[in-house]
Amino acid sequence: MFKDLVMRSRSYRGYDRSKTFTREELMEYVDCARFAPSTVNHQPFQYYLACEEETVAKIQPLTGWARALPDMKLPHPGMEPTAFIVICQNTQWDPRTDRFLRDVGAVAQTMLLAAADEGWGGIMIGNFSPQRISKALDLPDYLVPMLIVAFGKPAEKIVIREVNDGESLKYYRDDQDVHYVPKRKLSDIVIGDGNNKI
Ligand SMILES: Cc1cc2nc3c(=O)[nH]c(=O)nc-3n(C[C@H](O)[C@H](O)[C@H](O)COP(=O)(O)O)c2cc1C
Repeated sequence: MFKDLVMRSRSYRGYDRSKTFTREELMEYVDCARFAPSTVNHQPFQYYLACEEETVAKIQPLTGWARALPDMKLPHPGMEPTAFIVICQNTQWDPRTDRFLRDVGAVAQTMLLAAADEGWGGIMIGNFSPQRISKALDLPDYLVPMLIVAFGKPAEKIVIREVNDGESLKYYRDDQDVHYVPKRKLSDIVIGDGNNKI
């Protein structure tokens, strides 16, 4: 069942906007993230929650989507996410942002799995300007936006395709807007053959 949850937790770029989120729902995702592992247990992050329409609308145009599909404007108009969580590093707690880049992935994935567990979905967004986000949200200088996580009710079909080594890993869409995500095979990513031979 856990594997089903992981498989369902794809990077969605189209949402049914009838589902909105309360601050309490987003708080619950952060409450899961705070139990994620952390380098030397420094836990340097604070989270900006955006669920009000105006705040979400401020963040959306500052985020970049589907760089691998430059001819497509995603999300399609009217299918934008309805909430965001901006993961910020509190540089008063620890100024070394490079040191915690791995931690960012752990907390972001924890929040996405929490959302998937409730039937919702989302995506990590690394394509944004931290300065522009800080300005739009009036963040103090000591909070540095590290990664944005978008949330919503998924409204698109995503198909995982296993590919052989050497095949393209670029995601793509067909003319029905079905999104295909190539994933490497298990046998290609496990190192060695079980006899300590690489
Ligand atoms: C750290 C990180 C940052 C990402 N940033 C973006 C982004 O800025 N825009 C975007 O459309 N997708 C972004 N993605 C989503 C990836 O494109 C997506 O994970 C990949 O295509 C595989 O799809 P899947 O998550 O459904 O397996 C990001 C993923 C990660 C892990």
